[in-house]
Amino acid sequence: MNETFDLAGKVIAVTGASGALAGTAARYLAKQGARVAFISRTKSKLETAIEGLDSEATAFPCDVTDRAALENALQAILEKYNRLDGLVNGAGGNMPGATITPDKTIFDLDLNDYDQVLRLNLHGTLLPSLIFGQHFSKQGHGSIVNFSSASSTQALTRVLGYSNAKAAVDNLTRWMATDFAKKYGDTIRVNAVCPGFFVGDQNRALLLKEDGTLTERGQQIIDQTPMGRFGEAEEVCGAIHFLLSNAARFVTGQVLHIDGGFGIYSGV
Ligand SMILES: NC(=O)c1ccc[n+]([C@@H]2O[C@H](COP(=O)([O-])OP(=O)(O)OC[C@H]3O[C@@H](n4cnc5c(N)ncnc54)[C@H](O)[C@@H]3O)[C@@H](O)[C@H]2O)c1
Repeated sequence: MNETFDLAGKVIAVTGASGALAGTAARYLAKQGARVAFISRTKSKLETAIEGLDSEATAFPCDVTDRAALENALQAILEKYNRLDGLVNGAGGNMPGATITPDKTIFDLDLNDYDQVLRLNLHGTLLPSLIFGQHFSKQGHGSIVNFSSASSTQALTRVLGYSNAKAAVDNLTRWMATDFAKKYGDTIRVNAVCPGFFVGDQNRALLLKEDGTLTERGQQIIDQTPMGRFGEAEEVCGAIHFLLSNAARFVTGQVLHIDGGFGIYSGV
């Protein structure tokens, strides 16, 4: 491999590593020769995620909204590998009460669910970035890759809380990138990937009917996507690889869209 893109031997923590996109990225990074710390809440799911990998991968069960648990996870990673080079903040998700379905109005918003969605997607990105980022600042290098969403820049119906949280993740990406660069020069970078629409367990029923044809919403999304299809989980891996690698050494604060053009198309 071109050494600009080489991740071999790097130690990279991936949160949400039992998930569809983040899990695929974690396994991909391990296959590239990185030593990957798979972080998520449930040990058994993490063990399934690393199953069959012949590269170095270890499960570190941890809730990304729990400061003490994150500090313990960092300590355990450093005890095992003695270094940490990258953090991918993949943990994220939604709650029913933070979603405004067509039969509801914004006045039906459940503020508890809304808070939980902000907590998972925003605090769950901020906290690991602070705790692992502090290690980067002491060590003198590190790269953080956050997960945004197509809902962060445009009003996407239904997903109110999630959109608000991901918009904040975009801003956090730019804010932390700026602050790290001003205080630590070019040694610590913060970027984000912004996936468009990928069919997974959490959104399959919204996008596809039981017979595999598109739902009305699925059709609307495909019509808004110049490439005319949903993404495949593997298609997020290359962007994460680039952002973690030395190839992106002058790239910081960017939100890289992987969406078949969904975000740049006017629809006309
Ligand atoms: N899948 C998509 O189509 C899509 C599209 C745009 C953005 N995203 C975002 O990309 C990221 C990765 O998505 P995914 O498809 O892998 O998600 P997923 O729903 O498949 O998995 C989410 C992961 O986060 C973990 N998690 C949830 N709460 C946690 C917590 N408190 N502490 C630790 N781990 C926790 C889950 O256990 C799981 O491993 C998420 O931030 C998601 O919001 C996904």
